[in-house]
Amino acid sequence: MSDHIEMTKTTPKDFLLATLGGLFAPGLAIFLIVMLVLGVRAGMGTPDPTPLADKAVRERIKPFGVSVAVDPNAPRAERSGEAVYAEVCFGCHESGALGSPKFKEKAAWGKRIAQGYGTLLDHALKGFNKMPSRGGDPDLSDIEVARGIVHMANAAGANFQPILKKELEPSAADLVRGKGVYAENCASCHDTAVTGAQKLNDAKAWAPLLKEGKEYLYNAAINGSFGGPAKGGNVKLSDADTKVAVDYMVAEAKATSAAKPAAK
Ligand code: HEC
Ligand code: HEC
Repeated sequence: MSDHIEMTKTTPKDFLLATLGGLFAPGLAIFLIVMLVLGVRAGMGTPDPTPLADKAVRERIKPFGVSVAVDPNAPRAERSGEAVYAEVCFGCHESGALGSPKFKEKAAWGKRIAQGYGTLLDHALKGFNKMPSRGGDPDLSDIEVARGIVHMANAAGANFQPILKKELEPSAADLVRGKGVYAENCASCHDTAVTGAQKLNDAKAWAPLLKEGKEYLYNAAINGSFGGPAKGGNVKLSDADTKVAVDYMVAEAKATSAAKPAAK
């Protein structure tokens, strides 16, 4: 009993050791943390062990970061025919793989072009024998597929425009409705070309836009494009009304370029 009590008695020496030990443990922890921080900072100067992967990731996230910062509602950029070809169609058509008509080979494309643009578009969208639907890339939009076809067909002598079949000529009633929508919502800018809007009867300004196809113009008018506000700035305007306004603008632009092709 008394022995037991003796053993738990703390001598000044024990006290000193315990105190030093108690100080040493947190001291060691602090020392390790400092070393860790220094190590991490030193490591920042040394070459990244995975520079390629890191660069690839940065490259991949960059365009999204940029476009989100500029305008989160910007329509997804539709690729050009050249880009679609390089990214998707090239895989087969560059070499003529699987019996596909080879790029720029007029003999291979002649008969196909003769079928007409509409058939080619239909086949490329839906697939045709060993030609997979949309070249095997379901993310391609209709207009991107159309541009890919036109890029290839025109390189083999055709003179097609990337138009979608949906682009039926608007009815006379649509144009009347479109004219009204235009007068109320669009004329303020497009009659005068204020802030860089393409003037309604400026054939030169509209020529490149007409080539983009109506789907692109609908998209630009509904979602906004560069300086052009979405729906002309009228949030209450329906998509359908915005489209007939575009129909009206396109019809006017076409009429102008037909009437005075040399007009500036
Ligand atoms: C996996 C291979 C492959 C890829 C990728 C591919 N094609 Fe094809 N394509 C073919 C083959 C094979 C044919 C010939 C089909 C036939 O005539 O039987 C063909 C034919 C075509 C035709 C002619 C159809 C006709 O009616 O004669 C068009 C137009 C076409 N491809 C467009 C495209 C476009 C546009 C892309 C890219 C978006 C693309 N292809 C990507 C294999 C491919
Ligand atoms: C506040 C001025 C303003 C109003 C109102 C306006 N727009 Fe525009 N719009 C612009 C400008 C600026 C551009 C040129 C964008 C550019 O540089 O491509 C443009 C371009 C366009 C284009 C071409 C797309 C492109 O990529 O350039 C279409 C189509 C269009 N507007 C349709 C409409 C329609 C339809 C309306 C009415 C519902 C309308 N706009 C009302 C300013 C306006």
